Amino acid sequence: MYNQLRILWLRVENALNAPFGQTLNPWYHLGAIAFFLFWVVVVTGIYLYIFFRTGVRQAYDSVEYLTHAQRFYGGVMRSMHRYASDGMVATMLLHMVRNFATGRFRNFRWFSWVSGVLLIWLVYACGINGYWLVWDRLAQFIAVATTEWFGWLPLFSEPPARTFLLQGDVSDRFFTLLSFAHITLPLVLLLMMWVHTKRINSAETSPPRPLAVGTVLMLVALSLFKPAVSQGQADLALALNAIQIDWFFLAPYPVLYAASAGTLWFLVTVVTALLLFAPWLFRRRPAQLPVEVHLDNCNGCGRCFDDCPYSAIAMQPRQDGRPYELQPAVDASLCASCGICVGSCPFSMPFRTTELVSGLELPELSTALLRAQTDRALATLHGRPRVVVFGCDRGFDVHAIRSKTVATVSLPCIGMLPPTFIDYALRNSLADGVLVTGCREGDCHFRLGIHWIEQRLARERPPYLRQRVPEERLELCWADAPDQDRLSAGLASLRARVGALPGNPASEKGANGDRAQKPS
Ligand code: HEM
Ligand code: SF4
Ligand code: SF4
Repeated sequence: MYNQLRILWLRVENALNAPFGQTLNPWYHLGAIAFFLFWVVVVTGIYLYIFFRTGVRQAYDSVEYLTHAQRFYGGVMRSMHRYASDGMVATMLLHMVRNFATGRFRNFRWFSWVSGVLLIWLVYACGINGYWLVWDRLAQFIAVATTEWFGWLPLFSEPPARTFLLQGDVSDRFFTLLSFAHITLPLVLLLMMWVHTKRINSAETSPPRPLAVGTVLMLVALSLFKPAVSQGQADLALALNAIQIDWFFLAPYPVLYAASAGTLWFLVTVVTALLLFAPWLFRRRPAQLPVEVHLDNCNGCGRCFDDCPYSAIAMQPRQDGRPYELQPAVDASLCASCGICVGSCPFSMPFRTTELVSGLELPELSTALLRAQTDRALATLHGRPRVVVFGCDRGFDVHAIRSKTVATVSLPCIGMLPPTFIDYALRNSLADGVLVTGCREGDCHFRLGIHWIEQRLARERPPYLRQRVPEERLELCWADAPDQDRLSAGLASLRARVGALPGNPASEKGANGDRAQKPS
């Protein structure tokens, strides 16, 4: 069931990959877009604040002035402020569903997830508070509904809704308080957003430029074609009839009237509790063991520290008496067991004739075991052209394409693959080509694995792929579970290329005559 949800989600993502490509797919940048929309809300909010008056009467008038007298500045600013806030709700909720559907909420991710749940409350509080400030009919509805809702709690001696029964009871001072809250709450939200991404190395807090520009253009276009307007001044002496509500922020409010305040509290509490405890309720398999440091094979270069996607490594003063300044220390509670640090360590050298131990080792897949698996895979190759596929356990199951001429090795994350293993596989012509695959580009399960390996293989980031490895013998192809066609195309392209190279005549039989073996 859970796996079906994941596949369904991947198919939806794929539909967006067609127009946007894998790197610019907004689906892969939802957290960053939410962050960006926050800044749009802040900038437009500052403009609105310059003209906003905090008195009960003046509040409505000043917003009307902005909307109509300054249609192309204030009006657009107001509309962008509203639509960016709505967009923040939408992207935040999609970001949450995506992390859930792709299993990115359990184990070491619990902190990001739980802090994310708190963000939902804060975003809603900011938005509802903002609607209140306009003091139109919708604000009146929100004021009465919110106080009725909170009045259900046994915290108040007198129902707070009474405050809103008479126009005179809504004081200017109360409005000043609301305005103050509308500055304080976003500041708390920003602080919480910082906490939310604190454990994430190089968190993507701004989307790629084309997405940012596209988002702003969409907001401007929407603001011009459908400007945000008020719904008539609030009048507490009059009963409210038809008002239009903003479903992004106010979707729970109809429950108050369709059922009761108690029901809404019950629903909100259950949903919040389910979300908060989701990392433990939906735990599937025990967490992998964290990476271990082997100081005998470490020179303190700090590459593992730079590359760890979850800031699980800290560099500390050297303690083993060896002539290096620093040594890595792993915080096991933060470690994702992705192995990306193993891929970055200069000691992950399969050519070593002495015992192969890297500076960091995953207990469940040591570098020596990875070399043994590569050796075994290479030994199965017969016919030509022979290809080794290095893949990852999270993307397409590479073992499904194993055949006599295609050997496969799967790692926890493709970022764990030290570039020397590619050199190793091609040495002495044991293989004719190497295909490297993982999750979809822009969607690495461990965030940075694809990014780092692309840079290492392009010789832009250490450890560099050796110059002697011919580029034409290497193919990168990013494919997730439903992407067999893409992977097959990448494989066919590599086989055709290396088959045509001198010394590697393509054997028609070898190229086409193999039947894929069943994955073991
Ligand atoms: C204001 C709303 C939010 C913003 C601005 C935001 C932003 C971000 C950003 C920028 C990242 C880092 C992405 C990366 O670099 O890989 C992130 C990660 C994450 N967020 Fe959010 N987020 C928000 C709400 C939420 C919510 C509501 C949840 C779930 C309840 C959530 C769950 C997560 C998780 C689990 C990660 C870690 C993903 C991973 O390890 O790959 N976030 N968020
Ligand atoms: S295994 Fe992954 S999360 Fe753990 S220390 Fe290494 S790079 Fe960081
Ligand atoms: S990358 Fe390897 S050698 Fe460098 S600090 Fe980390 S463990 Fe030590």
